[in-house]
Amino acid sequence: MPFQIIRNDITRVSADAIVNAANASLLGGGGVDGAIHRAAGPGLLAECRKLGGCPTGQARITGGYNLPCKYVIHTVGPIWRGGLSGERAALEACYRSSLELAQKHGCETVAFPLISAGAYGYPYEQALAVAKESILRFLQDCEDMTVYLVLYGWQRTSSNQYRFARLDQFLQRHFEPPVFAAPMAMSAPKPEPSKKQRFASLFHPKEESAKREQEAVYASPSLGDPLSLEELLGQMDESFSEMVKRKIAELGITNAECYKRANIDKKLFSKINNDPHYHPKKPTAVALAVALRLDMDETRELLSKAGFALSRSDKFDIIIEYFISTRNYDIFEINDALFDYDQPLLGNSLL
Ligand code: APR
Repeated sequence: MPFQIIRNDITRVSADAIVNAANASLLGGGGVDGAIHRAAGPGLLAECRKLGGCPTGQARITGGYNLPCKYVIHTVGPIWRGGLSGERAALEACYRSSLELAQKHGCETVAFPLISAGAYGYPYEQALAVAKESILRFLQDCEDMTVYLVLYGWQRTSSNQYRFARLDQFLQRHFEPPVFAAPMAMSAPKPEPSKKQRFASLFHPKEESAKREQEAVYASPSLGDPLSLEELLGQMDESFSEMVKRKIAELGITNAECYKRANIDKKLFSKINNDPHYHPKKPTAVALAVALRLDMDETRELLSKAGFALSRSDKFDIIIEYFISTRNYDIFEINDALFDYDQPLLGNSLL
């Protein structure tokens, strides 16, 4: 299920398969085609020569050679001729045929460039929309694959300009850039303890260890008398995974619905679900808060169980606060906004 948009050079992405925006000859070219052939080395071209080309909208597979991937899937996108010559259908077919080929070869991670959005002239925003829709449609029925859309550099699309205008205002109103305190004046270095002091510090005199034991017993004001460490540990709060389970039950949703909404894969969810002491990364913890439709207080409570908090000096935190406080739980829209602000995305941890 997971789908991530990342900013990178696709030749550096170590997915099981990377997709090449090739031309019908499959004999290399410029753009991402040129970059992939350069990074893969001559073996890739030698294998491509045997394939006899590829029609638009279809895909062919080769080895990855010197690239950090097992396979290269070559697909030929449509040349943009104004949008009335079946370009959209051909572009959708590129994503579908590439993903079917990847699935047939057991790939768990696949990375796409933005097919046809370069030399073939497909308008960037439309190419982006077709890529997202085509990939998400395929992933609806395929739980064992994570797909990355690798954008090379980034331009804020005009639609995002409009789409996130209110988020921009929210950020301007609430973002408190972290103040970096001047480095503390170095206090005079403490004198080195003498050899005798060092030796003595290894052994606590009897009364010292008795005092330490006493300190280890915590007074509990509510109960009046001190609790032992064991009793305190027996009163530990609900864990992160216990709260996730409780909220799933309260919502009456299945585990699968939860991890699909959170854009995380089954493997990662099982780890969280089966280990009461599992502490996820912050983007994963927030993704589950979004999936469980938590309000701000519940989100803070869930994050605290994984050791995290939301602050006003972190753009990621404010963007999350904006979407949760406006009760917009569309994880792909949240990721678009996070990507726009160059922040970590929600869901499975990235490559
Ligand atoms: N990593 C990721 N994306 C990249 C990279 C890279 N190293 N290099 C370019 N891109 C991006 C471009 O910015 C663009 O958004 O890939 C997208 C597709 O651009 P092109 O590579 O020009 O592919 P396309 O528009 O499909 O045109 C294909 O160009 O290179 C020739 O042989 C190729 O004839 C074919 C045509």
